[in-house]
Amino acid sequence: MRSSLSCFLFVISISFVSCSLALFELSTKVTNLLSETIDTDNSTQKLVLLRLDGITVEINDIIGQIGRMEKYRKWNIISRMLRNLPVINDRKSTLQDIRVSQIYLNNYYRTMEKYVRDADEYNSTAVLDFANKVLSDSENSVSSLVDLLYQKVLDEGFVENLVNEIQPNDNYYCRERQSTAEILHTFMNEVQTMNIKSFITVHAAYKIKEIYSNTRESFKKEIVNGNKNFQTRTSKLLSALKPYIGRASLELRRCDPQPYIYGETYVEIRNFFHGIIINKVNLDPNGSCKKECNFYSYTKHYNCGSNEWCRKETTCSKVIDCQYVDSSMEVCPSKMHTTNRRYEYVKLGNGRVLGKEKPCSTHVTSLETYRNSVFWKCSYCFCLCDEGRKFYTQNHINMRPVESHIHRNMVVTGLRLVEHNRIIHLQIQEGKLVSNGQIDPKIVQWLPPEDYEITQSTYANGEDYHTLSWEKRDLQLVDVMAEEGNVVTGVGFKLVGNNLRLRIFTSPFNFTTGELTKTFKEVLENSTKIGSQLNMNAVDIPTRSNWPLNQFTTNKFVKFTNSDYEKDAGQSTVPFIDAQPVESANPVPLSGVGIFHKGRPKFGGFIAPRIFTYNFTKHLEPGFSQLKTND
Ligand SMILES: *[C@@H]1O[C@H](CO)[C@@H](O)[C@H](O)[C@H]1NC(C)=O
Ligand SMILES: *[C@@H]1O[C@H](CO)[C@@H](O)[C@H](O)[C@H]1NC(C)=O
Ligand SMILES: *[C@@H]1O[C@H](CO)[C@@H](O)[C@H](O)[C@H]1NC(C)=O
Ligand SMILES: *[C@@H]1O[C@H](CO)[C@@H](O)[C@H](O)[C@H]1NC(C)=O
Ligand SMILES: *[C@@H]1O[C@H](CO)[C@@H](O)[C@H](O)[C@H]1NC(C)=O
Ligand SMILES: *[C@@H]1O[C@H](CO)[C@@H](O)[C@H](O)[C@H]1NC(C)=O
Repeated sequence: MRSSLSCFLFVISISFVSCSLALFELSTKVTNLLSETIDTDNSTQKLVLLRLDGITVEINDIIGQIGRMEKYRKWNIISRMLRNLPVINDRKSTLQDIRVSQIYLNNYYRTMEKYVRDADEYNSTAVLDFANKVLSDSENSVSSLVDLLYQKVLDEGFVENLVNEIQPNDNYYCRERQSTAEILHTFMNEVQTMNIKSFITVHAAYKIKEIYSNTRESFKKEIVNGNKNFQTRTSKLLSALKPYIGRASLELRRCDPQPYIYGETYVEIRNFFHGIIINKVNLDPNGSCKKECNFYSYTKHYNCGSNEWCRKETTCSKVIDCQYVDSSMEVCPSKMHTTNRRYEYVKLGNGRVLGKEKPCSTHVTSLETYRNSVFWKCSYCFCLCDEGRKFYTQNHINMRPVESHIHRNMVVTGLRLVEHNRIIHLQIQEGKLVSNGQIDPKIVQWLPPEDYEITQSTYANGEDYHTLSWEKRDLQLVDVMAEEGNVVTGVGFKLVGNNLRLRIFTSPFNFTTGELTKTFKEVLENSTKIGSQLNMNAVDIPTRSNWPLNQFTTNKFVKFTNSDYEKDAGQSTVPFIDAQPVESANPVPLSGVGIFHKGRPKFGGFIAPRIFTYNFTKHLEPGFSQLKTND
């Protein structure tokens, strides 16, 4: 019998890079798999091939795990780089070479699988031919191809340039939906997968030769050699990429959506501030027109008396910063409850228009200064109204902590800002933390925001939620990071003085097992880091900008304020709030979260959340076990 192989083979222990995001579990799994011995005396040709088949099936499963969510994406990362990275000739052709080697190697691998799976169905000559091709000296042999692939990847400058091209906010970053550190990991895994596949193909080829050729030649030495090459490539890849992965940004955020859709890509603070027109006579406690408009910097609607305009307007309990605009004006009132504006536009007698003039769907009202005595002119002032807290105001921010189910070992993997019952909530995605810092991709879900209304008496302003007001409307733009060895298990806002601050809850965990310690700690960013106020003066609403919002602000604070009088009649509240979910394409635990502002000059921009993926650098070690041979 040809199967007199004195000892079956895969006693060599394959060892893989154990590296966080993926290759970890591999190391032990594949090692165990391949070091299993098959009963030597009972080894028949069929048994050997059967075993090889079993091994490839299991290895495919493991490779699937390396890819994790990658396998659900239409293109692999090398193809995605080719499609979406900026075209820089050298690198493009290198990437193309890498891709071509990958395609060839995948073909070899698939053919090998077919032969070991259905050995009976194939002519032994064909199978031997295949093995000889795999092992030939030609440039199309498996080892030449994998060598070429590694040489390209390890080429001086290749990785460095790649990293430089992955700029947050560019086309590639925006489509990839992974942090730069994750992108490098995924790329490394992809390359290493080719290493694994090549290694197994070469192994199988030697075994085929041992079984099918009549020479009874043993290739043990070659197999051991193949294992060494495999390990060398692995170490080189890791040393080439590790420094870059260590320095790479962990930040993940969303780019500008196309188009902006309320409730989906963004939400707003609504009916908080409105420009409002009020006659001096109604601002004065004594009902006099003696003072100028700008005397009224902080007052309220007093008695409307006989002023018809005043009677029609919804009263305002806090009127701020009045100014004289003109002696006559035409106002197009808006249906506040449906449009969230008091006015569509205001056309002044001098021709200036506040807001955008358009056909008025309600009744245009003309207002003119009049005299109420020989001495005093009663003019209409343009002021800012803090609408306070009414049934239609949407100016509340949830302060109740939002936590993942730590008793079920769930951690925060994504973040989003949403509006629910007129309250702005931080919403989280949670995922089950498993071994080696991984998330089980099958157990990932967005938790709905807590379902309560501010009218419920068990929920209190200042504790459960914060109602924005003229006095208290600051939001800090900060990142809050967990200590090393901890992951984020909760988020929330906290009111410190007039400032809303992001806070997080973190829990330590055992990296090996993934088990969370069922305690958590609150982390609040230190206020000493908070810088100046972000300028929001006379800005338009951000959804009117046709240009990318490419100015990012952090470590400052922002005051929610009214949109520009000229551009929007001061009817909106800026900044708007980005509501796009921020999550990694391959769910990961987080080392931190942040709230930042993105905008461009003259527009109010958006408040947006960002996440920081877990820093795996510390755990990036090659996990070689001893090279074992068995005689
Ligand atoms: C080989 O297989 C036969 C039958 O399956 C079994 O009886 C025998 O014990 C096996 N030999 C060894 C050495 O395990
Ligand atoms: C295998 O294929 C070769 C070439 O096609 C042919 O010459 C040979 O007879 C075939 N052997 C068997 C057993 O079918
Ligand atoms: C209102 O009238 C009272 C008494 O005449 C006077 O003391 C006060 O200053 C007046 N207030 C304003 C705002 O004019
Ligand atoms: C993590 O869990 C493993 C397995 O239970 C244990 O051996 C190890 O000591 C734990 N590590 C730490 C830091 O507790
Ligand atoms: C905040 O920073 C100050 C100065 O750096 C430090 O003394 C203080 O302990 C910090 N507080 C917290 C809660 O980290
Ligand atoms: C990640 O961790 C490594 C070492 O543990 C550290 O050098 C590096 O600065 C960290 N990266 C980031 C972005 O914090």
